[in-house]
Amino acid sequence: MKLLRFAAAVSFWLSLATADKEAALARLDAPENDDGYNQELLDLVAIPSVSSLPENQPDILRAAAWLEARLKKAGMENVQVLHTQGPRPVVYAECLHAPPGAPTALVYAHYDVQPAADTADLWTSPPFEPEIRGGRAWGRGVDDDKGSGVLPPIQALEALLASGGSVPINVKVMLEGEEEVGSPFLEPFLAKHAGLLAADFVLSADGGQIAADQPAALLGLRGALAVEVQVATATTDVHSGMAGGAVQNPARSLAQLLSTMWHPNNSIAVAGWYDNVREISEGDREDMAAYGFDEQRELLGPLGASAAVGEEGYTSLERLWHRPTLEVVGIGGGF
Ligand SMILES: *[C@@H]1O[C@H](CO)[C@@H](O)[C@H](O)[C@H]1NC(C)=O
Repeated sequence: MKLLRFAAAVSFWLSLATADKEAALARLDAPENDDGYNQELLDLVAIPSVSSLPENQPDILRAAAWLEARLKKAGMENVQVLHTQGPRPVVYAECLHAPPGAPTALVYAHYDVQPAADTADLWTSPPFEPEIRGGRAWGRGVDDDKGSGVLPPIQALEALLASGGSVPINVKVMLEGEEEVGSPFLEPFLAKHAGLLAADFVLSADGGQIAADQPAALLGLRGALAVEVQVATATTDVHSGMAGGAVQNPARSLAQLLSTMWHPNNSIAVAGWYDNVREISEGDREDMAAYGFDEQRELLGPLGASAAVGEEGYTSLERLWHRPTLEVVGIGGGF
């Protein structure tokens, strides 16, 4: 069974290469190889490498060892499980046989995943017992990042190496195990291994692609800043029948506070918010317009959203790719 999305991702990785591309694509497309590719995705996803839960620490190490073996099998060299100052190691591999003067790419992806226990009742099949249904693989990490980021570059490199042996650029692969907890030990790790990891450019294999049959190379991300706001108006729980109307309701205070953060035209009203934000260049605007974004197919449809809403004066793509945004990602209080 061909997993369309996977095939698109692999063809992107192969587009890095020029030599031996046809043979490598033929190998990846060969029906007799489908089962193997699918099975190894299921095997990797079955390892619950949840970085935020201490009880999954052995699984983190198991996933790292699995990837070490997989990279060796692919024909990669200098394969190592490198420890950080924290509990979740980085898996490294390289293939440095390009002609002199060729650039070196560092391919990044992460093998840890988000927990799934809090959504256990929403899964048709258990999150860490992945299966293939309707031409798609289902399990925690099938997408982010094992199926879309970790395996495709390995499989693409393997196909290139097996079909003629030449990868026209130097490639280093770095797979981290703590992205989902904010990579607390990555920066010192990078500093310590600056020589090993030196590259002309980094390709992040984490992130989306445009559609199942359309890969993408991300050139930048917006970054994120998270804050938590708590509002208390009393020192105990307050009964709405006993005290309602006579003391301030904190949920109402929070709603009133939040409602001040956007103008009616959906621009953000927080003082200084846009201070260092560069306007979108004409060139970027033209590029985005030329891309032909299908709002219904690529944004609203998959979300079941009824309308595109956002900052006045910008297209949906400009709002998504360029403009800073202020989002409430969770809200709670009372029952
Ligand atoms: C949206 O409204 C705010 C506040 O009135 C204003 O400063 C801003 O320029 C408006 N944005 C656009 C695109 O009109």
